[in-house]
Order: sequence, then structure tokens, then C-alpha cells
Amino acid sequence: MKRRQVLTATAVATAATLGTAATASAAPGHGEHTPPGLAKKDTLAWAAGGVIEIGSAVAGGGHHTEQDYPTPMSEEIYRETLGREVTSLSAENQMKWDYLRPDRETFDFEDADEIMDFAQQHGQVVRGHTLLWHAQNPTWLEEGDFSADELRDLLKEHIDTVVGRYRGRIQQWDVVNEIFTDEGELRLNDNIWLRELGPGILADAFRWTRAADPDALLFFNDYNVDGVSAKSDAYYALITELLAEGVPIDGFSTQGHLSLRYDFPEDITENLQRFADLGLETAITELDVRMDLEEGATPTEQQLEQQADYYRRMTEAALSVEGCNSLTLWGFPDVYSWVPGTFEGEGAATVLWDDYTRKPAYYAVQDALAEASGRAGHPALRR
Ligand code: XIL
Repeated sequence: MKRRQVLTATAVATAATLGTAATASAAPGHGEHTPPGLAKKDTLAWAAGGVIEIGSAVAGGGHHTEQDYPTPMSEEIYRETLGREVTSLSAENQMKWDYLRPDRETFDFEDADEIMDFAQQHGQVVRGHTLLWHAQNPTWLEEGDFSADELRDLLKEHIDTVVGRYRGRIQQWDVVNEIFTDEGELRLNDNIWLRELGPGILADAFRWTRAADPDALLFFNDYNVDGVSAKSDAYYALITELLAEGVPIDGFSTQGHLSLRYDFPEDITENLQRFADLGLETAITELDVRMDLEEGATPTEQQLEQQADYYRRMTEAALSVEGCNSLTLWGFPDVYSWVPGTFEGEGAATVLWDDYTRKPAYYAVQDALAEASGRAGHPALRR
């Protein structure tokens, strides 16, 4: 593979402030080297050619609220890239409880609606994220002193209202997120629903979601379940049991938050395949690959190559498992990534530099997609 331009530290720092200055049509890295008339095809979406949904998180809420940049969705270059590059959108934070439910009585759908409208305008599908989780719940809920009956009613009301609002427009819902520890134990202490209502609430959540939107595919979603492990074994056992009881579960997804500190999860294909063999769809829902990086530093070429390799192998894994129909990147560019604020000393986890030029990882994903769709070697993708 030819080497890509690597930005210097200064260029990266400058680029971090570039967002508003650059215009969409001048988005660097897009169509730069493509023959005239073919630039529109030089994207991840076109490379995928319909063999898989290639998605991105839509930046907003969560850690973004503590940054000094404007709302990403207000930036033309961000919207243009999101509209052009991917076929699927996930709400990074905008459909979580704390975002939708500022207080007990209120549902604030403004930003979630914006994502739905954007997707519709761009012919994209949407992954809804998420309905039952231990994190990012509002304080009024966590500290509300509700009885078990009240909590059940609250969750049902939430699912009916949120899922019902977008009925027929969501391709996949992460109904249940992150219920197991890495040891494969149910989070009975820190998950309010499991703690107060017991594990039976999981089946209810799936049933309520199915009733509110019969067309959406319903998923269990978690991190550190790329390979076979105590945690993914726990999901395998639980899902097997729930399916036997007739609970409407359609999918199992691994988030795919990887780090170059750890080996690549070699057995990801084997792991996803065993869930596929249960009759489920699978998905990779939050792919990013972080690396050791001091603040203000630039990744080395070796780090970038290794990152590209991880991205390529994750894409190939998604493409090689029948019924794995969706691969979502957890956002871009690096400046909007949740990684530096969450994992101390790590960063540069997405496929785009801060000025929207492409990293080796971008091309690795694009090439793997194009191989699978039969579009590899097309002049639109020639560099
Ligand atoms: C992260 C968001 O990216 C951040 O903006 C937010 O501050 C915290 O949550 N697993 C998930 C996602 O299911 O919802 C998390 O997203 C990342 C880990």
C-alpha cells in the first residue's frame, strides 16, 4: 500500500481549529486524486456497495458538552462528511436516557429527531442506542427512590414513547447495553434495572420494544465481547436461554473499542459466528482503535500502520460472518472522539485527521469494503 500523507504536530494542532473555516466542497482528502466525475464514489459508502451497512456515530451530547468546539452537527464539513461517507447513523448520546429525559415528565427529542431527519434526507438507516443501560441515566431516575412497580412502568413508558416515536424508521435497536462485567457477572449492583427489578426485566424490555416497533432488529450490545471470553460466554448462555423462552432477540453486537495496547481479537469471526449459528444477526457497532499518544503528539507511522491493520481486520471480520450486516465507526474526526477524555494517554482512534484528511485506517476500511463488494480497483478508488 502506498504511504499516505502524515500531518505534522503543528498541522494537526492547526487542523483542530479548522472545522468551521473549511467548506464542504473543499473537504480535503475527498476526491483529491480521483479522476474527474468520480469523486462522489470515493467514499466508504460507495466502496461498501450495499454488501454491508457502514456507519458512524453522530457526534453530540456526552463528552462533547465539555469541549469548547461548537456542536459538530452545526459544522458544514462534518454534516457533509457524515452524509457522504456512511449508510448508517448511530446516536452517540442523543437517544440515551439522560439526554432524552431531563426530568420525569419531559421527553426532549430535538437532537434525536435531527438525526432521524438527516438520515432520511441522506437515505441512511439508523441504529437506536440505547434503552436499558447502567450508565448515562438521569439523576432523577438513579436517585428517585421509585418502587419496583414504578420503575417497571417508567421503563415501559420510556420504551413505548421512544421506540414508538421512531417506529418503522430504526433498523436496529440496542435494547440492552453492557449488562455483564468482564468476568461474565450480571451487573446487579450498578444497573438500576437489574438491581431493582431482577434479570426478568431483560425479557420484558425486548418484548416491549418488539411491540412498539415490530420492524426493528433488537440487539444486545457490549464492549470486550469481540472474542470468546467469560463475558461473551455469558451472553451466549443468556441469549440461548431467552431465545428458548421465545423472547424476541434478533442480534448480538460487539462495540469494538480496540486499543493497540492489546492484541487484535483473533477469534472475533469465530465468536460472531457462534451467535450467528443461534439464528441471530450480528454487528460491530462502535469501532475505534486507540493508541498511546501524549497530548499534542503525532502518531508514528508504525502506529498508523498497526491501527490500519486493526481496522482492516475488523472490517474483514464483519464482512466474513453471514448475517453481520452492519459495521459502525464510533465517530470522526479525532477531535470529536471520546477516547482522549476517557482513556488517559491514548488518542488518535478514528479514521480521519482533524482536517478530515484520511488516515491509513480510512483506506484500510475502504479497501476491505471494496474487495467484498467487487469494487476494488475501480478508477474512483485509485490513489
Ligand atoms: C460514549 C460517548 O462516545 C461519549 O460521548 C459519552 O461521553 C460516553 O459514552 N459504550 C457505549 C457508548 O455504549 O454509548 C459509549 O459512548 C462508549 C462505550
